[in-house]
Amino acid sequence: MAVKKGQLLELFISDMAFGGKGIAKVDGLTVFVDQAVPLDRVMARISKKKKKYAEAQVVDILKASTLRIKPPCRYSGYCGGCKWQFLDYDKQLEYKRQHVVDTLKHIGLIEAVEVQATIPSNQIYGYRNKMEFSCSDRRWLLPDELQREDIDKDFALGLHVPGTFHKVLDIRTCLLLPELGNQILDDIRTYMKNSDAPVYGLRSHVGFWRFVMLRHSAAYDQWMVNIITATEDRMQVQPLADFLMRKYPTIVSIINNINSRKAGIALGEYEILLAGNSCLKDKIGSLEFEISANSFFQTNTQGAEQLYAFVKEYAALSGSETVLDLYSGTGTIAIYLANFVKEVIGMEIVESAVSDAENNCRINDISNCRFYLGDINDCLAKLTVGPDVMIIDPPRSGMHKDVVKQILTMAPPRIIYVSCNPATMARDLGMMKNFYRLLKVQPIDMFPHTYHIESVVQLEKK
Ligand SMILES: C[S@@+](CC[C@H](N)C(=O)[O-])C[C@H]1O[C@@H](n2cnc3c(N)ncnc32)[C@H](O)[C@@H]1O
Repeated sequence: MAVKKGQLLELFISDMAFGGKGIAKVDGLTVFVDQAVPLDRVMARISKKKKKYAEAQVVDILKASTLRIKPPCRYSGYCGGCKWQFLDYDKQLEYKRQHVVDTLKHIGLIEAVEVQATIPSNQIYGYRNKMEFSCSDRRWLLPDELQREDIDKDFALGLHVPGTFHKVLDIRTCLLLPELGNQILDDIRTYMKNSDAPVYGLRSHVGFWRFVMLRHSAAYDQWMVNIITATEDRMQVQPLADFLMRKYPTIVSIINNINSRKAGIALGEYEILLAGNSCLKDKIGSLEFEISANSFFQTNTQGAEQLYAFVKEYAALSGSETVLDLYSGTGTIAIYLANFVKEVIGMEIVESAVSDAENNCRINDISNCRFYLGDINDCLAKLTVGPDVMIIDPPRSGMHKDVVKQILTMAPPRIIYVSCNPATMARDLGMMKNFYRLLKVQPIDMFPHTYHIESVVQLEKK
């Protein structure tokens, strides 16, 4: 059958693709169906047709899969925050493991490796310690909101429709966030709407209020609020900070980041401390960490503890090792390992993360860690010692190929590769596989209800 764009088709979903789309076959052609799960029978409209595949959107579910559950969130199916709420959690874990296996095979051409069952997250709601919400001068409406006259369509503070930069849902309750965060968000929304300053237009790039980032410390039940605005205007933001500090005793830090660039990111060119401390304190196990607004910290704190336990186990430390921790962030892995090795050298590009890491060593009474500030490629070139163990925890984009080359030249006996992106992980491991044996891969679910998966890989020099 010739599949055409715009065509309505009845499809049976036979499998799940990475990215959370269901897979259907039409005369051998693979159709990726958004919002569908295996064993669904759906009516879907073809939205894209390419030579080797097509994409489709569900119009109607004719027979719901037995793997479906009733999602507790009213935005499920529309919001990009989590796309898998309607899929049974055990199945999510299974599919995540399968994605790791498949990407290693197809991108890295790696098959002979043991990929363990996915470790589940202890909490599957309220697990995120950090969330970023976007402001917009146009609210994207849910189907049941389309006809309502009482809704203000010119303001939204929330999360994006998947894959869009300009469609923002006005999120009243996000279940990934600890409960109080939604109340704080709602007060910020009311304040912004009633203020003289305009909300930012994602197409016009005009306006003041841009993002709200909330961080929560589970260990101390404390909050950091980071308000990102397009320009500096203390008269607008200070009363909001004062109000929040009065109302919420658990807010300990309010920051204003200024981002005048068009890029839709919550990272500012500079920040102003509006109230409280510039950092939030949290714990991983018995270790304490101070995190500033723009520093990386694993977003699922309990998950981070599970992750680091595997890093330590796979590193098989005897106590005499020099460990190199690439992409060290706020120094959490370095500090976690410090008491079990001779020394740890961390490398990280974000200045505030390096100063947080140094501070975190002081707080935890650790004196055998030091950190290089800069791009990994430059930092590695300056290194004079040869590490026994290398920890590599790159951002989603993975490693630059020059970094991989330098690592292969340094040739440490053991490498632990940590990744939140199976595709770039498979690419990087593919470049290393002729020189290193891949012993084990452990997927860990740090992001329930999304298709994202963290993995730890144990490598040994051939
Ligand atoms: C996935 S995080 C890992 C952080 C840390 N290992 C942890 O577990 O919290 C990746 C880190 O790499 C840093 N980074 C990104 N690109 C970099 C580069 N080219 N050179 C050095 N660090 C970089 C980011 O700032 C971020 O802190």
